[in-house]
Amino acid sequence: MNADQEGESTTVDWQQYENEARQAISAAPTAAELDEARVRYLGRKSELAQGLRGVRDREAGMLLNGIRERLEAAVEERAAALEREERAHLDELLDVTLPGERLPRGHLHLLTQICREVEDIFLGLGYEIVDSREVETVWHNFDALNQPLTHPSRSHLDTFYIDDNTLLRAHTSTGQIRTMEARQPPIYIATLGRCYRRDTPSPRSTPVFHQVEALAVDRGITLADLKGTLIHFFRALFGEDREVRVRTSYFPFTEPSVEFDVTCFLCGGEGCAFCKHTGWFEMGGAGVVDPAVFENVGYDPKAWSGFAWGLGLDRITAQRHGIPDIRMFWENDLRVLEQF
Ligand code: PHE
Repeated sequence: MNADQEGESTTVDWQQYENEARQAISAAPTAAELDEARVRYLGRKSELAQGLRGVRDREAGMLLNGIRERLEAAVEERAAALEREERAHLDELLDVTLPGERLPRGHLHLLTQICREVEDIFLGLGYEIVDSREVETVWHNFDALNQPLTHPSRSHLDTFYIDDNTLLRAHTSTGQIRTMEARQPPIYIATLGRCYRRDTPSPRSTPVFHQVEALAVDRGITLADLKGTLIHFFRALFGEDREVRVRTSYFPFTEPSVEFDVTCFLCGGEGCAFCKHTGWFEMGGAGVVDPAVFENVGYDPKAWSGFAWGLGLDRITAQRHGIPDIRMFWENDLRVLEQF
């Protein structure tokens, strides 16, 4: 039999053809071999295709088309079965007990870490953490805090103004004013966050920095309460053997005002290169809330008393970790950050 030759009538046993083809299709062990069977029995050069081309009568046409449809369906069925087998095999290959790929894991930035620690200390003291806005009014940043109109920090050279009445807060005291305006005492709050001053970047200052400030307003609050709170705070943050000292100072919003220092983390107060041989680190400012501030927020200064204190977090974070330059906090160099 030579079906390739044009015009030659073929004497194919179509029943046997279909049986053979079904056998080859259902026994094909792989997709490639299934394709070979498909080409052999259904392809353009297959006997079936030749036969279909030579069909002259309706009956033969129906017979051959019927075979073609059934064989095509058989190929599809076998292809689906092979794919299922392949998937089942892949499932077996997957060993879910093998150790997974390790994903590199980051950690919180040093400044975020210290903010969280500071918040925890205040929460332990029963304080509330107040998250206040960074874009502020002149009233909340200066006026309400009794800042004289002539104070240099009001200058455009010191503070970032957005317009005459709007600025980026220069300290977190603004959150204290907002809280006092909104509520009646007793108040025990801490405000933390970013502050902005037009300082030239240097190892000790950056135009964006972080502060924490605490405010307590209640009846009969004194400087002794302030000092006790500071001692507790610094021992919780830097260790039980820290000492705190206060020196007189001046702020427009506190009277009396003090600045406070903590004994050096490295030498414990004996004096070393780290603390410039003084034994102390300057920490921040504090004082008893000025009666003028209470009047500005509508409190009766005769009925209420309070203390406030504040400090910059960037420098003490750098000192705690022995980082020589606070600009490193902003450079996002993983070689620095990954060490902590
Ligand atoms: N707000 C002051 C500053 O930014 C710090 C301070 C807070 C001083 C509270 C006294 C009382 O420098």
